[in-house]
Amino acid sequence: MNESTVTTEKTGSEHTHSALDVEVRVSGLSKAFQRRRENIRVLKEVDLEVRKGELLVLLGPSGCGKTTLLRCLVGLERPGEGQIELGGDLVADPGKGIFTPPNRRNVGMVFQNYALWPHMKVSQNVAYPLKARKLKSALAGGRVEEVLDIVQCGHLADRYPPELSGGQQQRVSLARALAPQPAVLLFDEPLSNLDALLRLDMRAQIRRLHRSLGFTGVYVTHDQEEALSLGTRVAVMNDGCIEQIGAPQEVYRNPASERVADFLGARNSIPMVVDSSGAAMAGCRIPDSAAPSLPGDYVMRIRPAHVQLRRPTDRGHDDHITWLSGGTVVEILPGADRTEYIIELADSVLYVEIPVSGIGFHIGSAVDVGLPHASTHCYGEDGALTPTEHVRVGVA
Ligand SMILES: Nc1ncnc2c1ncn2[C@@H]1O[C@H](COP(=O)(O)OP(=O)(O)OP(=O)(O)O)[C@@H](O)[C@H]1O
Ligand SMILES: [Mg+2]
Repeated sequence: MNESTVTTEKTGSEHTHSALDVEVRVSGLSKAFQRRRENIRVLKEVDLEVRKGELLVLLGPSGCGKTTLLRCLVGLERPGEGQIELGGDLVADPGKGIFTPPNRRNVGMVFQNYALWPHMKVSQNVAYPLKARKLKSALAGGRVEEVLDIVQCGHLADRYPPELSGGQQQRVSLARALAPQPAVLLFDEPLSNLDALLRLDMRAQIRRLHRSLGFTGVYVTHDQEEALSLGTRVAVMNDGCIEQIGAPQEVYRNPASERVADFLGARNSIPMVVDSSGAAMAGCRIPDSAAPSLPGDYVMRIRPAHVQLRRPTDRGHDDHITWLSGGTVVEILPGADRTEYIIELADSVLYVEIPVSGIGFHIGSAVDVGLPHASTHCYGEDGALTPTEHVRVGVA
């Protein structure tokens, strides 16, 4: 692979950028931890490029290596193999014995637990990275006050972190990361300890800051909504590898593997068999256009909000929806806007979210389950996305 080329194997798409456009380049990065004499590989030959000015969102299940990757970028962790380049400078290459410590990397990090020093005032916390980098003119020139104002915490300068709310601590931690004007800002689930309303508010602030300050960022989150609303691109990690990377809507609409689909909320999984007599699911024949063309065993994935329900007597036909009969409502979980229905259908359990104003069903109701073709994805035994007709003709 050429140095300035990255190929995403699962999607087959290839992007080439000039070296000048790339702020962060990670190549073949591996990291293992020693645990009870066992060597556990946490990052497995990760390749990643982050372009100048982009906010790349990293999504993935707990334990897949997101924090470890950020810690390698900021210099808190030494990789076992591979290279990290920041702004064109090689900062980590164990093969060549190169390792630049955190205070000599132009990188700031916002931690999930804020990581403020409790014995230092807010202003001292924010001044700390300026002192560590010996940025005397920034200290003298009012940079601390400036960044505290940016995050609307100027009035808290003389308080100590334990005297602040969680939201205020997170803002101060953001100010501390912004203070030395790093070329790259890393965010490790910065909003996950905040309540729902504050999260939305801070999310909007981070978006505004990214637009006005134009920093390059890597933002880790578990929250799909956050990923879709903040990310210029989204990378989905699993078990130490990047499984898929692309534009947020592209990754959301076309998860390249069953694991990515599952992680992005396509919880419903229905086995499908395609043979010489056609395609079948949950004991029902389904149209060829909703199934892969090659014979084999597949799994169809669909998000709960996309599944439809109807009474078995409400027969109708729509070329774009496959209806499966024989479902039974086994549980109902009311919500504010949507009701979740749990349906047993052949050997599958399906989760269906219906707007509250829709038709109501009762526990024990017999239902037909509707799968709109444009919202379904089929995965082969290897877990890879297998096109069906609606994908092939680009309807999805
Ligand atoms: N210092 C360490 N020593 C041993 N194992 C570690 C260490 N740090 C992380 N690990 C292990 O490495 C794996 C990846 O951890 P990491 O913190 O990077 O995951 P994560 O994707 O950030 O998860 P989460 O979403 O829960 O924060 C986990 O299995 C974790 O237990
Ligand atoms: Mg983590």
